[in-house]
Amino acid sequence: MWSSPFGLEFGFIEMNKLVILLCSLLWGALSANAIYVEDAFVADWQLESIGPYQCVFEDGNQQNLIIISKYDSGSLISFVNQTDGRILFRHPLKFRAVDAMLLENGSGYVLKDNTGSTFTFDSTSGFPLDAESFNGTFTSTCVPKQENVNISKDFLQLIDRDSRLEILKVPLNGTFAGLNFFHSDGLTTMKFLYSTLEGYYVFQCFENGVLHHEWSRDESIHDVTAHAFFDIPNEKLLSITNELLVEQDISNIWGAYKYRVAKNWGRFKSFLKENQYSPGKIITKLMRMDSKLLNGSDDVEFGLAKYLIVASKEGSLAAVDSSDGARIWTTRTDLQDIIFLDFIGQRRELFTFAADGAYALYDVSNATRPVLSRKDKVGNVAIDSISKLDEGKYFLKLENGSKQLFSLISSTSTAEINVITTHDKKGVYGMILKDDGLLQDTWKISLKESEEIVAYAARADVPVANIGVTLGNRTVLYKYLYPNLASYVVSDEKSGSIFVHLIDTITGELLYSQFHDEKVDHHAPINIVFSENWFVYSFFSSVPLPEQKLVVVELYESLEADSRVSSPSGEYNSLKSVNKPKTISNAYFFPEVIKRMTVSSTRYQISVRAVILELENGQMTYLSKAILSARRVEESKMTDNDKKEFMAMPYISTIPLNDHFIITHSRNLLMGENAQLVSIATNLESTSIICGIGHDIFCTKIYPSGQFDTMSPSFEKGKLLATILGLFVLCYLLRPSVETAKLKSQWLVRS
Ligand SMILES: *[C@@H]1O[C@H](CO)[C@@H](O)[C@H](O)[C@H]1NC(C)=O
Ligand SMILES: *[C@@H]1O[C@H](CO)[C@@H](O)[C@H](O)[C@H]1NC(C)=O
Repeated sequence: MWSSPFGLEFGFIEMNKLVILLCSLLWGALSANAIYVEDAFVADWQLESIGPYQCVFEDGNQQNLIIISKYDSGSLISFVNQTDGRILFRHPLKFRAVDAMLLENGSGYVLKDNTGSTFTFDSTSGFPLDAESFNGTFTSTCVPKQENVNISKDFLQLIDRDSRLEILKVPLNGTFAGLNFFHSDGLTTMKFLYSTLEGYYVFQCFENGVLHHEWSRDESIHDVTAHAFFDIPNEKLLSITNELLVEQDISNIWGAYKYRVAKNWGRFKSFLKENQYSPGKIITKLMRMDSKLLNGSDDVEFGLAKYLIVASKEGSLAAVDSSDGARIWTTRTDLQDIIFLDFIGQRRELFTFAADGAYALYDVSNATRPVLSRKDKVGNVAIDSISKLDEGKYFLKLENGSKQLFSLISSTSTAEINVITTHDKKGVYGMILKDDGLLQDTWKISLKESEEIVAYAARADVPVANIGVTLGNRTVLYKYLYPNLASYVVSDEKSGSIFVHLIDTITGELLYSQFHDEKVDHHAPINIVFSENWFVYSFFSSVPLPEQKLVVVELYESLEADSRVSSPSGEYNSLKSVNKPKTISNAYFFPEVIKRMTVSSTRYQISVRAVILELENGQMTYLSKAILSARRVEESKMTDNDKKEFMAMPYISTIPLNDHFIITHSRNLLMGENAQLVSIATNLESTSIICGIGHDIFCTKIYPSGQFDTMSPSFEKGKLLATILGLFVLCYLLRPSVETAKLKSQWLVRS
């Protein structure tokens, strides 16, 4: 039998393909870049702050300093190791302490609040001693006895009581602001703590006139009122972006191709030149393990290198590295009460905005050195709130009730915002932006006297990776993806119930509502988050049992599988009524009180989304959306097909707190009332940066679907390369024998 005369050639083509495959594998292995799993365990950091010190004294053993500072509407007691300045523990107090006194025997201390009531605490554990109430005479320990201390411009002097001669002269670290603590035993030891205008607290201890130990604590960032993130630009990527732009402008396709080849050839040549044309050097460079090379530049490439800019109420700005919390720069603005920060990526400018309408723009094209580029003021009325509409465009609500648009970038942006929805405690309001740039009210949702909006979440404009949910039997449930949605929680204090509404933000139409008549605790936090086609809200109810609840509502085009209502190609007029969503909802119990929530954000939203929870007990955890599903049903109701669905789980009413998902580990966070919980996407789809920003600052990275796009540290590049090379050689050696075998088979010769 004659087989195709092209057999040989075909075999050759196959062989060529194999070679190409091997080449591409080899190239892939050489150019593989990754961050490693071991990175995860050093990925979190916390800046613990104490705040402005109000009162500092020693404990009985003179080992620790006890520091009283302001915290929210109460106070904070911090125990700090006198030797190294580290915080041992911090206890927030519900009342505002105005004065303190160490007891005679040093075993306890008494705090006085602004009504004059006193509270006694143990001076080793810091815990309250309720048993005994204090009834001696109160003499404050707060004011340092400093009659023998003299402060000149740059020096602190200790003067002998009798002779008035100088015993010690110490240079000050920074601009002196005040003496917080002073102790001298009159003979050998002298220790003191002072603050500087830059926000540092410096402690020094002298023995026999010689510096024994010293430390300083940076308290310049505390009670952050606004924040912004910015990416550190990757020079390498920027030049490639520029090349791509130039390439696009070349109309002739061959011209563009030649341009690209020339650029790549240039890069290759400079790579060879860098390695002095030595093959040995080039190979060692390619073979070196990535983990050894793992440094800042990889972080930049993967978008993990971001600076977090924070503003404090007093007007200082500081940039910290979001990967380790290291301070990059600090600067003081002359703004009072900064309420908003934004990074304008297009112009690489930082926009700082204060409550009185004054603003400042900083040029941060050099990420490590901000330069003030403009200062100005909007109007003469105090600003109630400001929100971002678009790059460089903001919506202002003034204290006198009027609303205004404010733009830093003059009409270059093409994205038009025509409809704006805002809300306050008493209602939700729709507005349109007319051609003349003025705002006109369109619709309004108002509430009853006893009602208040306690939580509001608009659907974030995020990419959607999948428009449907694939069920166990391979049918699809289509998600409701109409973009202009918002949901909010209205609490009625009189009846103890809450209503949750879903509205269309263009028309103000109510699309869905549900309510809970379970004696909701209005003093406990109520939160809502909205993403893609679902929203989750949390509240604390007291009937039938006091319990934290988490409710999830999912929106679908239809609850019937494979039935799609919207058409993918059609255009919609949002002003005409839209299809209403079909909803499914589930409620869960959660074992801890939830203080704040946010949704994880990743670059393309392919990773399973997670809901990040900050708990009342000072920890943070996250729940995968697969757990918080509205489609979970009891096991008895699940069919075999249902169980085949990806990540399907039977419904269990309580979501347990899993220790493995506590992202704060053993840290204890003190975030304060006005903290914010944010999630920032990185260039790695698997990875999202999570930060809690408030009194303390805490940042970490989470991987809601695992680190599918990062390599493990045990990844052996060398072995992979060796295997590929081995295969190459093998193919080369086998080729003649394969060809002979084929030829023989064509001639029907038995080998
Ligand atoms: C305080 O710090 C010193 C030096 O780091 C250490 O030796 C000591 O054990 C610390 N004291 C406490 C109570 O942690
Ligand atoms: C597939 O499963 C869904 C949900 O269990 C069910 O509603 C639907 O009827 C099933 N479709 C088919 C074709 O079996």
